[in-house]
Amino acid sequence: MRPLVARSSAPLQGSARVPGDKSISHRALMFGALAVGESRVRGLLEGEDVLRTAAAMRQLGAAVDRREDGSWHVHGVGIGGLCEPADVIDMGNAGTGARLLMGLVASHPITCFVTGDASLRRRPMARVTLPLTEMGARFVAREGGRLPLAVIGATEPLPISYTLPVASAQVKSAVLLAGLNTPGETTVIEPEATRDHTELMLRHFGAELRIEPHGARGRTITLIGEPELTGRDVDVPADPSSAAFPAVAALIVPGSTIRLTNVGVNPLRTGLYETLREMGTDIKFESQRVQAGEPVADLVITAGRLRGIEVPAERAPRMIDEYPILAVCAAFAAGRTLMRGLAELRVKESDRLGAMARGLTAAGIKVEAGEDWLAVEGMNGKAPKGGATVVTNLDHRIAMAFMVLGGATAEPITIDDAEPIDTSFPGFAELMNGLGARLGV
Ligand code: S3P
Repeated sequence: MRPLVARSSAPLQGSARVPGDKSISHRALMFGALAVGESRVRGLLEGEDVLRTAAAMRQLGAAVDRREDGSWHVHGVGIGGLCEPADVIDMGNAGTGARLLMGLVASHPITCFVTGDASLRRRPMARVTLPLTEMGARFVAREGGRLPLAVIGATEPLPISYTLPVASAQVKSAVLLAGLNTPGETTVIEPEATRDHTELMLRHFGAELRIEPHGARGRTITLIGEPELTGRDVDVPADPSSAAFPAVAALIVPGSTIRLTNVGVNPLRTGLYETLREMGTDIKFESQRVQAGEPVADLVITAGRLRGIEVPAERAPRMIDEYPILAVCAAFAAGRTLMRGLAELRVKESDRLGAMARGLTAAGIKVEAGEDWLAVEGMNGKAPKGGATVVTNLDHRIAMAFMVLGGATAEPITIDDAEPIDTSFPGFAELMNGLGARLGV
């Protein structure tokens, strides 16, 4: 346990580059492991979650190493070539890593034992074991399909057409990854579009996919099975979900202006920035460009007045990881901010809806919460009391959200454990302090 304290700070100033995108980093290592030849990944997130994926790919037979210049090189085994790991694969805190891994293994004739930390062992896995079972894999899991579990991959995998019951890019990706070593066409229908890094990167590695609109906001994605993936270069943009923490810190500490460089701005990830603009902020996306198939930009964020708004449920898939930090931001707005469609927040690294409601209340902010909604009463720029100690429960985003809040409260905020931050944002405290925050012990 590593406690961390945030004290109120002077205006934030300067420029920073937050670490690489977690979603893209996991996928770069996994697709590299399935490709023939060498892939070179620059800007990989070297956080705990992604390092677990690197180790898992080695256990499955790929060669993965880091060069002195910080680039990562993966020599893949080719689709169908994954080897049976000699030992249990421990995915730590990584939900994305674990679920995508289950998809990879499901269509290889190997048996694999998967576990994770206390948080990951609590999270629902039936959402992936169900469709993967339809494709021919077998699972022996704890109640509710939870980890630890054994995956017995199919010897003759079957292509399926699967409609996602929850808007989840992880479930979509698990099915598509299983579809790689499956003959015929594997189709995923998503009623609400979710982040499409899997689709973009599969194309980049040489797979063929058809993507069609489905209804008003959804998509039908069809993967042609058994493609040959070939090693590619991937430049990982900075993670917009990590950028969200310094961005909101700059919005709520009066007088701040910061620049965050090379941030991924894939439209299926930028729901927070849409929301912040509706709240009246001035966030600029400068020098927009495309890097390895993904749009990136430099973000310029200036503090200003914020107004409370209603965030529609349909936006949740585009900003699912950003509600904790949005809830912090909402505490500084004029009026109430109502966030709907948050059922999935209950099953993230922790119950984030409950954690935000409890922590904000302890810091003197008025909050109301339902099963799938959260309302925060903004204090119109007045500093909330603060003075709370928040239990982070192995949840990096809860930890970072409260460290941002503590930069603008009257009394400091403490988190009981900052260690989980390393899963997605190594160097968080140093980066924030470099911009002028006061995080310390
Ligand atoms: C992710 C998808 C999201 C997100 C997670 C990363 C991904 O989860 O919360 O941090 O990389 O596919 P769901 O797809 O389960 O909502």
